[in-house]
Amino acid sequence: MTTTDASRRDMVAVITGSSRGIGRRLALLLAAQGASVVVNYRTNKDLADEVVAEAVRLGGGGFAVQADMENPEDIMRLFDEVADRYGRLDHFINNAAASAFRKILDLKIHHLDRSYGMNVRPFVLGAQQAVSLMDHGGRIVAVSSYGSTRAFATYAALGSYKAAIESFVRFMAVEFAGYGITVNAVNGGLIESDSLHYFYSMPGMAPVETVLAAIPLGRAGTVDDMANAIEFLLSEKAGYITGQVLAVDGGMTVAAPPYYHDTSDPLRLPERPTHGTRPDDLPHASS
Ligand SMILES: NC(=O)c1ccc[n+]([C@@H]2O[C@H](COP(=O)([O-])OP(=O)(O)OC[C@H]3O[C@@H](n4cnc5c(N)ncnc54)[C@H](OP(=O)(O)O)[C@@H]3O)[C@@H](O)[C@H]2O)c1
Repeated sequence: MTTTDASRRDMVAVITGSSRGIGRRLALLLAAQGASVVVNYRTNKDLADEVVAEAVRLGGGGFAVQADMENPEDIMRLFDEVADRYGRLDHFINNAAASAFRKILDLKIHHLDRSYGMNVRPFVLGAQQAVSLMDHGGRIVAVSSYGSTRAFATYAALGSYKAAIESFVRFMAVEFAGYGITVNAVNGGLIESDSLHYFYSMPGMAPVETVLAAIPLGRAGTVDDMANAIEFLLSEKAGYITGQVLAVDGGMTVAAPPYYHDTSDPLRLPERPTHGTRPDDLPHASS
């Protein structure tokens, strides 16, 4: 990415958790379009500073802010810094996430409280602050995951709160529409990142290869796949879309077992018909 398309010149975006992974990729995508990006991190200052330097090199701007999203005072300070520096905001992307990965019977009270405090509360507190700075309308996007609608080992404490975030998206969409603000979520499937390999190395998880084999598009998603979908929802083109959850998962959550990679008949993927073949000419039409 070397050119500036400048379509977001003068726009300001806050992206929580943008020192690494999906947030970092999105920050650089927006910066390459001329935006100023507020790069939030918890511990990796060096990485966040690198993102800001790269954002400037790409033709955008921005600055890094250390703020732990679990701490409400840090969230207020982050938005105060945005207000001091720019006096306005165009995009708020609630991306940072963390949780305890344990079976439900092993979840303690503090795991439940911290998962709420790390995932749901920062989205709501962040959105309240964001709205106060979006005096010309704006866009809010929350990053969710397939655990919001699908159950699998050790993900209950995060998946259930991702579902709560998606629910808040709908309520916010209705409440903030009058301010010209849209609110949507992007729900990621298996996305190549630091957290994917950490997560699938945990006890109780299936080997990641078995999950990859069940994805219709045949591969894990990339941080670009996620950033591109978020960027679309932040764009003018998405101006009439609000309250929605867009899945970026290669078809994973619409496929049910048994899958096509099960090669037993009758599920084997049929040969692609040549163009011009009529339904009655298909090989299986007479059987
Ligand atoms: N990776 C996947 O397979 C996948 C799939 C679906 C959805 N998602 C969702 O995508 C989002 C981003 O995930 P990712 O995989 O890109 O993450 P990642 O690569 O693990 O990066 C996490 C980012 O969040 C920051 N962070 C963590 N805890 C924080 C806190 N308490 N306060 C502020 N910042 C914090 C980190 O900062 P430091 O660098 O300072 O630690 C880092 O910038 C999450 O909402 C996740 O649930 C991921």
